[in-house]
Amino acid sequence: MRIRNFIFFGSGSKRIINHQLKNIMDQSFVIKDKKEASMKDFPLFSELADFDHEQIVFCSRPEVGLHAIIAIHDTTLGPALGGVRMWNYASEKEAIHDALRLARGMTYKAAISGLNLGGGKAVIIGDPQKDKNELLFRAFGRFVDGLAGRYITAEDVGMTEREMEWIFSETKYVTGIPKARGGSGDPSPVTAYGVYMGMKAAAQKAYGSDSLEGKRIGIQGAGSVATHLARLLRNENVEMFVTDIFEEKALNLARETGAKVIHPNKIYTQELEIFSPCALGGVVNDDTINHLACHIIAGGANNVLDREVRHGQMLKDLGILYAPDYVVNAGGVINVASELEGYNEQIAMEKASRIYDTTLEIFEYAEEHNITTNEASNILAEERIRSVGRLKTLYSSKSSLSNRKGEMYMRNRN
Ligand SMILES: NC(=O)c1ccc[n+]([C@@H]2O[C@H](COP(=O)([O-])OP(=O)(O)OC[C@H]3O[C@@H](n4cnc5c(N)ncnc54)[C@H](O)[C@@H]3O)[C@@H](O)[C@H]2O)c1
Repeated sequence: MRIRNFIFFGSGSKRIINHQLKNIMDQSFVIKDKKEASMKDFPLFSELADFDHEQIVFCSRPEVGLHAIIAIHDTTLGPALGGVRMWNYASEKEAIHDALRLARGMTYKAAISGLNLGGGKAVIIGDPQKDKNELLFRAFGRFVDGLAGRYITAEDVGMTEREMEWIFSETKYVTGIPKARGGSGDPSPVTAYGVYMGMKAAAQKAYGSDSLEGKRIGIQGAGSVATHLARLLRNENVEMFVTDIFEEKALNLARETGAKVIHPNKIYTQELEIFSPCALGGVVNDDTINHLACHIIAGGANNVLDREVRHGQMLKDLGILYAPDYVVNAGGVINVASELEGYNEQIAMEKASRIYDTTLEIFEYAEEHNITTNEASNILAEERIRSVGRLKTLYSSKSSLSNRKGEMYMRNRN
């Protein structure tokens, strides 16, 4: 895929922006003229190309403390949707890398979930404990608005409802706003339901039945997703184990659902049928993988595998069935995407229930081609992007396959 765009948005004068653009144009002519020039001389473009990105936008408004990056990975299927994260990044490079990595992940998640959405992500550089103010987020909202729907934002790490409302006051290209304001509210019940369906699909593959009755299931984390997941599992008579670095949270969840509390380090060695990471990413890594005593991994956390290729292959070799994270935790994006059509919880749940079939399809594909399940889901996601992309070369009077035009919000129509 070709790099399509590179934009600086800033508070500086137009002259400066034009100068920067002129430099970029000049550089691209230099590349054409001097074939020997290598992309290594353009590290940012090289990184964009490595991650197959379309566009990166730098948003600068120093007087209100805004330094943000919006990464748009791929819009073949529709507008790029992905949350905005506020984080105290150690360097610009780290922030750019995070935005690019996360935006790419969103493309795959939307594609495999059958959504007509592309992948994007935004990061705001700053300390979420100290650096928040209304003007910063309203300025960010204006930058999002300037993209005219190519990027749609949502809540992510470091953000709360209050900041999302500030952004919403400047742009309609926001999802996941409170139900009272016409949005979809907290996505974690739908995320948990999707994880539950993915877990059942994995049980079907591993045991020939999707009943979870009597299965030992270990949930790492006792936060929002874990709580809703544990409530669903309680109805299936499973033997449940929960853990959290805050013991009180684990104890509360255990009291409500009848689970047993275990120490955070014990979750990796506990004999289980199903391990469900619902806390952090990177928990399947060189230190933990050989201790795992489970048959299946299916959880809500993002980036469960520390190194996707290496640890995916190791799980396959160990005979542990891995339900790819971005497939089974897609309920959250399915939920916020429903806002684009006018939010209806029942429809969002129904769409999330399809995670069952998608997960099974991935397992079958992986087995048939003797590849890891994460590789299989990547291939199937890429195949959908390619085939829908080919379809879009046909002339149509409508701008979107679903006739709803990705940039429109039902809630804003009269
Ligand atoms: N909320 C959603 O709808 C959604 C959607 C997709 C993916 N996710 C992912 O799912 C995960 C959980 O999300 P959440 O909204 O429930 O977050 P949360 O913050 O409500 O819960 C996370 C919990 O994990 C605990 N924790 C952190 N480190 C731990 C450790 N080492 N061992 C045990 N517990 C630990 C925290 O104390 C916290 O209680 C995150 O990785 C998130 O990115 C969430």
